[in-house]
Amino acid sequence: MNLRIPMVAAAVALGLSLVGPVWAQAPDDPLPAGPGKDAVVRVCTACHDATQFAYARHTPDEWDNEIAKMQSAGAEMTPEDQLAISDYLAKTFPKPAPAAPSDAKAPSGR
Ligand code: HEC
Repeated sequence: MNLRIPMVAAAVALGLSLVGPVWAQAPDDPLPAGPGKDAVVRVCTACHDATQFAYARHTPDEWDNEIAKMQSAGAEMTPEDQLAISDYLAKTFPKPAPAAPSDAKAPSGR
């Protein structure tokens, strides 16, 4: 009796079952619905997935800076896309305002 082939088959099957779920995994969408989301998905998930930025919190200026960095990394977008993305990110993933001491001068504008 030759047990070798079944053992190999079992090992391969085990290997595939370990790898399979990782491939099959549909990660939860970390991007809440909102205006501009379609542009973010189209432009910003071409090179990495949304988890690369969805857990970041930035001011609008910092987000624009991130977008500019991605453009120099090769991200291509129309000016309309860029506005939509900038808006979406700034509104959806804002940096929480720092807990200011009560006597702090309120920032002007906005
Ligand atoms: C052309 C490919 C490409 C596209 C398109 C792209 N990125 Fe990236 N992104 C990268 C690479 C490469 C890194 C890793 C940079 C590193 O680790 O230094 C990265 C990293 C990041 C980071 C991590 C912080 C950092 O500065 O390294 C953020 C945030 C980010 N991307 C946001 C975005 C957003 C928002 C968009 C859509 C406007 C976008 N990316 C589109 C290539 C891209």
